[in-house]
Amino acid sequence: MMKNKDFLDILVEISEMMNDITDIDSLLSRIVELAKGYLNVSRVSVMLKEGDFLKIVAGAGLNFDYKDFKIKVGEGASGLVAKTGETLVVNESKNMNSEFGYQAKSYMCIPLKVKENIIGVLNITDKVNDYFDENDVKIGKYMASQCALAIERYNLYEEEKKSEKLKLIGKFTSSIAHDIKNLLNIIQGYVELLEIELDDHPALKEYIDSIVTELKMIHGLTLDILDFSKKNIMLRRDEVRLSELISEIKKHADIMIKFTDIDFTISYENDTSLFIDKEKIFRVFMNLINNSIEALNGKGVIKIDAKVMDEYVVFEVYDNGIGIKKENIDKIFDPFFTSGKIKGTGLGLAVTKEIIIAHGGEISVESEEGEYTKFIIKLPVKK
Ligand SMILES: Nc1ncnc2c1ncn2[C@@H]1O[C@H](COP(=O)(O)OP(=O)(O)OP(=O)(O)O)[C@@H](O)[C@H]1O
Ligand SMILES: [Mg+2]
Repeated sequence: MMKNKDFLDILVEISEMMNDITDIDSLLSRIVELAKGYLNVSRVSVMLKEGDFLKIVAGAGLNFDYKDFKIKVGEGASGLVAKTGETLVVNESKNMNSEFGYQAKSYMCIPLKVKENIIGVLNITDKVNDYFDENDVKIGKYMASQCALAIERYNLYEEEKKSEKLKLIGKFTSSIAHDIKNLLNIIQGYVELLEIELDDHPALKEYIDSIVTELKMIHGLTLDILDFSKKNIMLRRDEVRLSELISEIKKHADIMIKFTDIDFTISYENDTSLFIDKEKIFRVFMNLINNSIEALNGKGVIKIDAKVMDEYVVFEVYDNGIGIKKENIDKIFDPFFTSGKIKGTGLGLAVTKEIIIAHGGEISVESEEGEYTKFIIKLPVKK
C-alpha cells in the first residue's frame, strides 16, 4: 500500500526536523502541513494553553487570521479536550459547528501532553470525501506526540538559554554590586553623622531622613543583584499586615510622583497577614510603579488594588500609559529586555519575577498598546 511508504517518509522527515527545535513556529507549521497532506484533511491546527485560554500557534488550511483567536479551556470541543485530556473523534456529524464557525463533517481533537500535563491540542478537521478510521487516529496521535515533544524541547532550550544569560549576569554584576554595597555603607555612615549635627534643623533633618531611606533602598537593591546573580534569592520573611505594606507603598509612591500630573491611588478590600520578605516585596512594587511612571510620560493614572481571594492576596497594578507592544509582551520578564527607554537596564521585571516566584507567588501581565498595562500579582496569605 502506498500509504505505508508515505508514512515512513513522514517519520523520517519529522525526526530530522526534531533535530533543530530553535525555530518552533516553523517546525510546528511544517508538522501541521504534513499532517494535513498525509491525512488528506482540509484543516489542521495546533492550539496551546495560555492561562485559561487556548490559542492557535500553527495552522494549515485555516482561511482566517488566527493571531488573536482564543477559546476558553473547558468550552467548545477543543476546550473540552484540553480540559479532560481525552482524544475526541467525531465522524459524520453534518451539523456540527466547530468553534471556528465552520461546519465540520469529521473532526478529531487530540490533547498535547508533556508527561501528565496537557499543554494544548491538535485539531484535525474534515477528511476529504471520507471519515477518520482507526489508523488515522493513530497517525493523529503520533503527530500530536511529536508536536508536544517539539514544544517541550523548545521550552527546555529556552530555559537553558536564559540560565546561560543569568550566569553571565552573575559574573558581571556580582563584583560591581559588591563594591557598590561597600561604598554605600560608607556614605550611610557620613549621612548619619550629618543627621546628628543637624539636630536643630528639622527641615534639613527631614531631607536627610529621605536620603537615608533611599540609601537603604539602593543597599537592598545591590543585595538583590547579588542574590539574583547567584540565582537563589534569599528571603528574610516576617509576618506583615497587608494594610502596613499598602501604606508604605503609598508613602513612597507619593514622593515618586510629587512633581508630575500622575494620579496615584492604592486600596485594599480586607486586611490580612502575609509572610514575606517585606523589603523585597516592597521593591517589587517600586519596580512596577517606576515602570508605570515611565510609561505615563508625566500624566495619567496609576491604580493599585489588593483583594484577598482564597489563599492569596491578588494585587493589580494598573496604569493608563503607553502600554506594551504585542510582540514584546512575552519578553518583558527576560533579563536585559528593555524598550523605549534611554537608561533602562531591563533588570527590573526580571528581578521582580524572581522575587515573586521565591515567595511561591505568581505574576502576569495584560496590556493594550496605547491604552493600558496591568500587572497581576498573587502572593500566598500567611497560614
Ligand atoms: N507599565 C508599563 N507600561 C509599558 N511598558 C512597560 C511597563 N512595564 C514594563 N514595560 C516594558 O517592559 C520593559 C522591561 O521592564 P523592566 O522594568 O524589566 O526594565 P526597564 O524598566 O526597561 O529597565 P530597569 O532595569 O531600569 O527597570 C520596559 O523597558 C518596557 O518596555
Ligand atoms: Mg523598570
